[in-house]
Amino acid sequence: MRETLTELKSRLHAAGASQEAYERSTINLIASDNLIPAWRQHDLPYHGDMIQEGIVGYRPFAGAALHDEIENVAADVAKAVFGTDHAILQSHSCSQANQAVYHALLKPGDRVLALQFKAGGHLTHGMKGNFSGRLYDFRFFGVNEEGRIDYDAVRFLAREARPGLIVCGSSSYPWAYDVASLRGICDEVGAWLMLDVSHEGGLIAGSAFACDLRVPDVVTMSLDKTLRGAHGAAILCTAALAERLDSAVHPGTQSSFPIRRLTDSAVALLETQTEMFAEYAARAVGLARHLSSAFTAAYPGAVFGGGTDKHYLLLDSAAAFGCDGIAAERALERVGVLANRQTLPSARSSRLRDADGLRVGTAWAASAGYTLADAEKLAEIVAGVLSRRVSDAEAAAAVAGLVAVKRELDVRTRVLP
Ligand SMILES: Cc1ncc(COP(=O)(O)O)c(C=O)c1O
Repeated sequence: MRETLTELKSRLHAAGASQEAYERSTINLIASDNLIPAWRQHDLPYHGDMIQEGIVGYRPFAGAALHDEIENVAADVAKAVFGTDHAILQSHSCSQANQAVYHALLKPGDRVLALQFKAGGHLTHGMKGNFSGRLYDFRFFGVNEEGRIDYDAVRFLAREARPGLIVCGSSSYPWAYDVASLRGICDEVGAWLMLDVSHEGGLIAGSAFACDLRVPDVVTMSLDKTLRGAHGAAILCTAALAERLDSAVHPGTQSSFPIRRLTDSAVALLETQTEMFAEYAARAVGLARHLSSAFTAAYPGAVFGGGTDKHYLLLDSAAAFGCDGIAAERALERVGVLANRQTLPSARSSRLRDADGLRVGTAWAASAGYTLADAEKLAEIVAGVLSRRVSDAEAAAAVAGLVAVKRELDVRTRVLP
């Protein structure tokens, strides 16, 4: 047994080291990935390992006097950044934050209206195989021919379906949301409004994407995507819902959480208010728009919807290059570019195996210091590979060239000025 464990340990170290080397040698265009700045290691207020449960004022474990202070301060930071009345930073992930919100606002079987998966919605927004689709009666709205949410159609559906909750938010809808219209629809039909800005949270905090988070009743967001924090999520809500959401988190859906999540998240949130972060957030959107223009100039119609307001774009690989999402993802992976298959609203189904496009994200590239000129080279590489005009060897060499140029600018090696 000893030998076996020793062997396993060395395999684990070898795999970890190889994975790190792989990440350093590839360009990551997966929209949910990012780099956590190395300088943050020197700015973390707490390095301990305690966990806690409960909410401020009610803790089932001893030693909690300062835990309340830490949770209060962390929540105050989130409230200051986003302007909401209440904030909870305990969720292990945004899926879990969404679970807590449904638990707070709905009973099993209650009706919810949300954006269709293939139009950009998330699996926690009612997909059949997910807890959300099993527990609640989800109905869906899609997008129009231009790929935009048609708010009149949402109103029409809401009047018919009379949902208790409308969920807006997405993993692959590249446009801004008309939150005021959604608020009006919810008020008219008597539904709560939840906005899931899992992807956009960092862009909103860094003023690169306009969205007033005080308008919905509840907001959820990942802290590890564009916000560049440690893995976890935030729930923000109005004062009227604070108690309900607190108890939906504990005891509703969660027991323990690490105290370090609160302090690490608060540091990441504070950092969003720096000039450097604003520059990163603007660059993430700028890179996505530049990539989008470069693809469109060479292949009109290649970018679904024709552009983006966010840190990703949707490439219609089937229409532009004759390869579906899985083939496109694999072809790029072979040459060191990571992106992910994506169903477009035109897909045959919501199943990822029917994906007809790619989601191309720029948050990681923005953190790594890539410029607009690099984005143009990147667009050439991607188009060259997908159109099979460029050999894998040639494309891999071009990727290696881009990686080598930028390694020095990486937020992992940069020191805080
Ligand atoms: C819109 C949206 N909501 C929720 C989630 C779930 O986040 P997590 O992976 O942190 O559970 C995601 C993840 O990509 C997402 O895109």
